Amino acid sequence: MKEITIQSPLDMHLHLRDEEMLKLVAPLTAETFAGAVIMPNLVPPVDNLDSLHAYKERITAAQGEHKFTPYMAMFFRDYTEAELAAAKEHMIGIKLYPAGATTNSEAGVKAIDAVEPVFKMMEEMEIPLMVHGETHGFVMDREKEFLASYEYLAKKFPKLQITMEHITTADAVDLMGRYENLRATVTLQHLIITLDDVAGGLLNPHLFCKPIAKRPEDREALLQAALAANPSLMFGSDSAPHPLSKKECCGCAAGVFTAPLALPRLAQLFDDHGKLDNLQNFISGNAQRLYGLTPLEKKVTLKKTPSQVPAAYEGFGQHVVPMHAGEELPWSVTEIN
Ligand code: DOR
Ligand code: ZN
Repeated sequence: MKEITIQSPLDMHLHLRDEEMLKLVAPLTAETFAGAVIMPNLVPPVDNLDSLHAYKERITAAQGEHKFTPYMAMFFRDYTEAELAAAKEHMIGIKLYPAGATTNSEAGVKAIDAVEPVFKMMEEMEIPLMVHGETHGFVMDREKEFLASYEYLAKKFPKLQITMEHITTADAVDLMGRYENLRATVTLQHLIITLDDVAGGLLNPHLFCKPIAKRPEDREALLQAALAANPSLMFGSDSAPHPLSKKECCGCAAGVFTAPLALPRLAQLFDDHGKLDNLQNFISGNAQRLYGLTPLEKKVTLKKTPSQVPAAYEGFGQHVVPMHAGEELPWSVTEIN
């Protein structure tokens, strides 16, 4: 039977939420991943050291006995030098949201040029910047329109490490290759689906996320970069659980919940393309090198034996529907050490 053992898988972009939802979803990632970058878009956002410490404690309490490191990200705002200096060793980087671009981003940045002094300080202090790169333009063009801002930042702050979060376009893959200080995360869903899967037939709210899935040629460019373990590209699930009532309704929240099935589905994808050997770098090695991380040691064995994705994950009064709900996947996690 085909199998692969992954050392210390990392999810470089994860939403764990808070309270009861956190209790439900934290163990689902902590079980199979050695660490994850935790997004700060709570209400209110995680934008000071006290709330960062408190949130990290709640995550650690919720993750259970699993070997798992939450790498905390802070929500971008007009920080002072003293605030950055105090926070630096407690976080992996700062996440910038354009105001109103996505879930809980109202407190985000209204004009990028107004906050350049913060970028300058981050560059000098070697604090990585993570960016939700979308404009407020036409939904299919939002990422493409934001690429000029990435390029501007990459040139103006050549020592600032910039992660283009959850890229969805072939143009973003191209841009990533052109600047030493630009790297990117890509989700599972954007390697698999296009806009057709979301809205081409019957509407599928569980595949609706921001940025929206794009065209087949975009998916192909992302997939080829991931399968090649492009050294600038990291896995970041952007697993974003919302309660069923916020997904199956008019005014569906953006977010695809993939955390519990990410590893077997990625193994399937890489195996289907004969690239299983590159999964280790895509899902851990690249992130370790790009962020200088030494994750907890964790060996996760996956085998080509079927596993069943539940129709929903329930507990703590929550009900969340995962991607591939109710389907059988050809690969399973069989051992965790
Ligand atoms: O689909 C998304 N959901 N995209 C984001 O950027 C945020 C996330 C969320 O927090 O639900
Ligand atoms: Zn996200």
